[in-house]
Amino acid sequence: MNVMAEKFEPTSKGSPAFEQRLPIVSPEGLPDDDFLHDVQRILSSRQLTNAAFVGEFEEAAAEYLGVSHCVAVSSCTSGLILTLRALELQGEVVLPSFTFHASAHSVIWNGLKPVFADCDPETFCIDPRAVKLQVSPSTAAILAVHLFGNPAHIVELQTVASSSGILLITDAAHAFGSDINGRRIGAFGTAEVFSFSPTKLLVAGEGGMIATQDADLARKLRAARNYGDSGNYDPELAGLNARMSEFHAALAVRGLLGLEARIARRNQIRLHYEQRLGSIPGISFQHILPGNRSACKDFAVLVDEAAFGESRDWLVDALEKENIQARRYFWPPVHRQKLYCDIWDKRPLPVTDRISSRILNLPIYSTLSTEQIDKVCGAILRSYEFANKSGCAKAQRA
Ligand SMILES: Cc1ncc(COP(=O)(O)O)c(C=O)c1O
Repeated sequence: MNVMAEKFEPTSKGSPAFEQRLPIVSPEGLPDDDFLHDVQRILSSRQLTNAAFVGEFEEAAAEYLGVSHCVAVSSCTSGLILTLRALELQGEVVLPSFTFHASAHSVIWNGLKPVFADCDPETFCIDPRAVKLQVSPSTAAILAVHLFGNPAHIVELQTVASSSGILLITDAAHAFGSDINGRRIGAFGTAEVFSFSPTKLLVAGEGGMIATQDADLARKLRAARNYGDSGNYDPELAGLNARMSEFHAALAVRGLLGLEARIARRNQIRLHYEQRLGSIPGISFQHILPGNRSACKDFAVLVDEAAFGESRDWLVDALEKENIQARRYFWPPVHRQKLYCDIWDKRPLPVTDRISSRILNLPIYSTLSTEQIDKVCGAILRSYEFANKSGCAKAQRA
């Protein structure tokens, strides 16, 4: 722990803002006892995987997203791996480094080369201008990420993809319920892949889904999630067991109820944080482009040490002392992780490095009360005041 954070007094009375630790995530949209009826139905049907509930979930999701085909899988990671495999890509895939490493894992699992492009300083999503610079004759696809639920610059990315004769695929792990001018994420590019793990707005326990308008790709993916076997015991590709179980699908079907209300509440929370924290020097936010809706899977601030008076890491420690869990998503960025630093082409990614070194994620979930948000903001304000009090923090260290 940082020495200065140890000296930081949590509140004027010396007690932390929260008696019990405030977690950064809390699974939501979980059903009550009704779910037990679903479990009973599944057990009586004797079909535990890939049956009626999976079909119901796929249909309901396709309707919600406004896409022709949804293929449920065991996770977003397996969905991404199988999508790249089913498309028979070869060569390079351009993707952000400011993302969760699973985006890049799906590329190397397929023997493809990840090529990292810098991100936009405002939206934190992959920058189409940087993508253009990284596209070469070896590029097969762009893998964009709707970061924290904030829609990527899809129109510009699609222009780059179309003019280069390559595909656009998205890692939409965070973005179920996000939209661009009213058109839901899921309906863009060749395929978009969602996650339903417990940190997401729609939870299946574990799970993922590929949304696509391409009937042949959907057919191939249904085989791919079943070892590549479409039923004739003669696989058309080397697939995985990436099926979704009936129990997971039943949870997700129930979770669709109330999703819109959860997205609305998270957006209220985001605005409340921004109002309360916006006047603190050195704190800034992710920008959502006009006309876009973010599902607000995460809420992040950037901490500029020069203006705030202390570093992002110091603030993480200070919030810990207040019993507030904060996280550094995504730090280190993928190109600086040991699995990827030798693969990285060493082209500088200055925006990614800057954002990654300043990013700080705060608690967000629809059950978070306004009082709790105010306490988190109060703790950040006190940290700022402490960091800038003469004789404190940096002054003491000097
Ligand atoms: C951007 C991104 N992509 C992929 C994944 C992997 O999702 P899953 O756990 O469903 O495989 C995550 C996990 O949260 C993620 O944040």
